[in-house]
Amino acid sequence: MTETPVVSPQPLTARRSGALTGRLRAPGDKSISHRALILGAMTVGETRIAGLLEGDDVLRTGKAMQALGAHIERTVDATSGEALWRVRGVGVGGFAQPDAPLDFGNSGTGCRLALGAVAGCPVEAVFDGDASLRKRPMRRVLDPLERIGARVVAAADGDRLPLTLRGAADPVPIDYETPVASAQLKSAVLLAALAAPGTTTVIEAQASRDHTEKMLRQFGADIKSTVHGEHGRRIVLKGQPELQPAAVTVPSDPSSAAFAMVGALIVPGSEVVLENVMMNPLRTGLFTTLKEMGASIETLETRSEGEEIADLRVRFSPLKAVDVPAARAPAMIDEYIVLAVAAAFAEGDTRMRGLHELRVKESDRLAATAELLRVNGVEVEIDGDDLIVRGKGGKGPVPGGGLVATHMDHRLAMSALMMGLASEAPVQVDDTTFIATSFPGFVETMRALGADLS
Ligand code: S3P
Repeated sequence: MTETPVVSPQPLTARRSGALTGRLRAPGDKSISHRALILGAMTVGETRIAGLLEGDDVLRTGKAMQALGAHIERTVDATSGEALWRVRGVGVGGFAQPDAPLDFGNSGTGCRLALGAVAGCPVEAVFDGDASLRKRPMRRVLDPLERIGARVVAAADGDRLPLTLRGAADPVPIDYETPVASAQLKSAVLLAALAAPGTTTVIEAQASRDHTEKMLRQFGADIKSTVHGEHGRRIVLKGQPELQPAAVTVPSDPSSAAFAMVGALIVPGSEVVLENVMMNPLRTGLFTTLKEMGASIETLETRSEGEEIADLRVRFSPLKAVDVPAARAPAMIDEYIVLAVAAAFAEGDTRMRGLHELRVKESDRLAATAELLRVNGVEVEIDGDDLIVRGKGGKGPVPGGGLVATHMDHRLAMSALMMGLASEAPVQVDDTTFIATSFPGFVETMRALGADLS
């Protein structure tokens, strides 16, 4: 697997563009891609993955799985000409002792899921990442993993990376209620619990994305998920399954499709078809919200490949402000920055509630989103955990003209660039390097739709 070289910051400017038109197939879903590599590595036999996201985050997870003993190869399918990744895994509890630190780069998902996977094996591994990942909280994951039997041997201040974890020789099943709605946390527990005899139960008060549960079922694990309370789930997993290799086809990432969707909604005259978008209801909170705002998003064709998939036609639409309930946050946790951009063009004040988790993403996204809007002449307020965007719709253009600090955060960079396509003056971002973590080819793909990016 290839290593991404360290490069100097690459600024980019987005200018007011003509209508965006054409078709766009966003790259493979990041969440599913990480999970396919990790579960493949925990399964004896060959797992084949089509449509894997070949972004830096996912490639680093692949490298970590190789360091833990899995054999991973990129081949090209003779008939389709598309990449096919083959993972030959070592089985649950079968990881080897890695001889160098595992470097997860910018990726919280890769790191936290791998912490879980390693926690059930009697090996010691050093987990590390870039300056952004080194700031992010790991204690939330370590608490349940320690209860399963893993031990933190060393860690930076506040239990942050670099961190050495010793996996459990005799992992035990646990009953665990997640203190925050986090799919990474839930998944870490489930992956560790695979190695424990008996039944592990995870309860979440608010359901988070369920890709781990679905994929575990696909790989033959005995796992049941039932409704818990008004918005939650109760997940029951029987440990020590014989996982069976499965064929995984990764659909397009709705979180990546989101940028072109908002671009098309705010650039007058646009009409774009987004192909092959995953429509898992625990991921589509943005689509629901934009439709409430008056967005024209039409479902052209749906199909099911383990996940619901659709082609979506998006047309430029005048938007109006809405109040986004906190209960929707888990289903659109990665989309608030780009929603805030859409809200800047809407008529009225949009309030997004319950955004505390945004403070611990690739950057402090609550502060950084407010800053993105402010430097581009849009009024914004942070009220506790809520973000209020005072939309310019009906009052005049979004001024733009700002230089946006992206804080090593791919989604900040892509969202700011979308704003520049429809604002009066250009919007510049200080660095586009991190876009490659989740959306390689983003700039070229957007240019092909008509975006003025240079
Ligand atoms: C992810 C879960 C979310 C999300 C991240 C991907 C996953 O994080 O922000 O981009 O694949 O499980 P949290 O679980 O921390 O909310």
